[in-house]
Amino acid sequence: MTATHAFWLAGRQATGEATFDVTSPWDGRLVGQVSVPTEAQVEEAVAAAHAVVDEFAATPAHVRAAALDHVSKRLAERTEEIARLITAENGKPLKWARGEVGRAVSVFRFAAEEARRFNGGEAQRLDTDAGGNGRLALTRRFPKGVVLGIAPFNFPLNLCAHKVAPAIAVGAPIILKPAPATPISALILGELLAETDLPAGSWSVLPVPNDRMPALVQDERLPVISFTGSDTVGYAIQRSVPHKHCTLELGGNAAAVVLADWSSEEDLDWAATRIATFSNYQGGQSCISVQRVIADASVYDRLVPKVVAAVEAQVTGDPTDEATEVGPLVSEDAAKRVEAWVDEAVKGGATLLAGGKREGATYAPTVLADLPADATLAREEVFGPVLTLHRVDGEAAAFAEVNDSKFGLQTGVFTHDLQTAFRAHRALEVGGVIVGDVPSYRADQMPYGGVKQSGVGREGVAYAMDDYTYERVLVLTGLAL
Ligand code: SIN
Repeated sequence: MTATHAFWLAGRQATGEATFDVTSPWDGRLVGQVSVPTEAQVEEAVAAAHAVVDEFAATPAHVRAAALDHVSKRLAERTEEIARLITAENGKPLKWARGEVGRAVSVFRFAAEEARRFNGGEAQRLDTDAGGNGRLALTRRFPKGVVLGIAPFNFPLNLCAHKVAPAIAVGAPIILKPAPATPISALILGELLAETDLPAGSWSVLPVPNDRMPALVQDERLPVISFTGSDTVGYAIQRSVPHKHCTLELGGNAAAVVLADWSSEEDLDWAATRIATFSNYQGGQSCISVQRVIADASVYDRLVPKVVAAVEAQVTGDPTDEATEVGPLVSEDAAKRVEAWVDEAVKGGATLLAGGKREGATYAPTVLADLPADATLAREEVFGPVLTLHRVDGEAAAFAEVNDSKFGLQTGVFTHDLQTAFRAHRALEVGGVIVGDVPSYRADQMPYGGVKQSGVGREGVAYAMDDYTYERVLVLTGLAL
């Protein structure tokens, strides 16, 4: 008998009238049943969050920081249990699940540190013109109001952490809505939040079904929406509430660029290993997993066999096996979509160099060359373990190829040259340029987000704290400046 997981309504556990099943994408076994909040319970959580806005904003920084430190410490203590849960509900191999918990430990720790130094204020003298004699402006940041955090399935814990921790750090109540496929990790996060002294109402974790989300998105008591997921859903949300503050972390078809100076055997071995690992980690289900390899013609022919060998060496299978590097995708339907896109590309003339096979929800790590320009894979985010190879002549052509995309999240540039690194930073239309490594590198304190159709706003704890708050100026008059 599998226990039913209660949800968190204004800091306390509650159950609704219905439940849904969470199953393992690897073997279909039941991981748990999750209780669904009724409409009345959702209303209760929203009303409680709204009611606590002023109180929470006024909570001393040490109280919020202590709560964040507590969650960080407890996540660290429960790493193995939570990692196994992430693997069970998401299918990501244990090694990556442990890494995800470690990152969430850091996110809550960074948030505690930022909470202590945030909002120190800035003073600006105004007597620079005669009308400002004796006047001083003090600028401080205040929460915009309750945050509605909508999290995806691919990092069921850490991308919830990126929504919740900055909200607590600034004193903004949050209603977290986890992904339907992976809600249990978020509910465990709720257990840790419930061990703190945060005011009732300042947080809720509500596994609301997707078809009931439009009403919540429209609710005027939730002025900030932080969404991570597909561009289609993200822009639909933004279009439906143009007056709200929306942070959108959307898709990408991230490129790893290998330039002519990255040419020794050791260089190419490192690039190939990193590319193979990070086009396939989490089954390629990361917005910054490597989808495109753009290599200079002078290194292309030596790089390709190394990439293919490294991709074929990826250990694929049971995600609970310590040796497994690539597990299943989140569902069989997701794997079938990837299969359809690869088949379409091959029919259109692409050359299959590795993979190209599906078994249930598992799709084999795949490498394609000669991708036709009109293939779906050439335009869209594959969100699967598939990588395409592109030969270019020179740096300018490589950067143009990166920019020939509707997305712009992160790019990796393999070069040793500092001037090239700076030119890449200037030329590439993305939110982050990673030099000497793949685009998939993310440190959780860095600003993270995209341009073009990869979204708006930034995560990364301090940057999300800015996003959740606004500047309010206080002008003092008649001062002896
Ligand atoms: C994402 O898929 O956008 C998140 C990537 C990460 O946090 O590493």
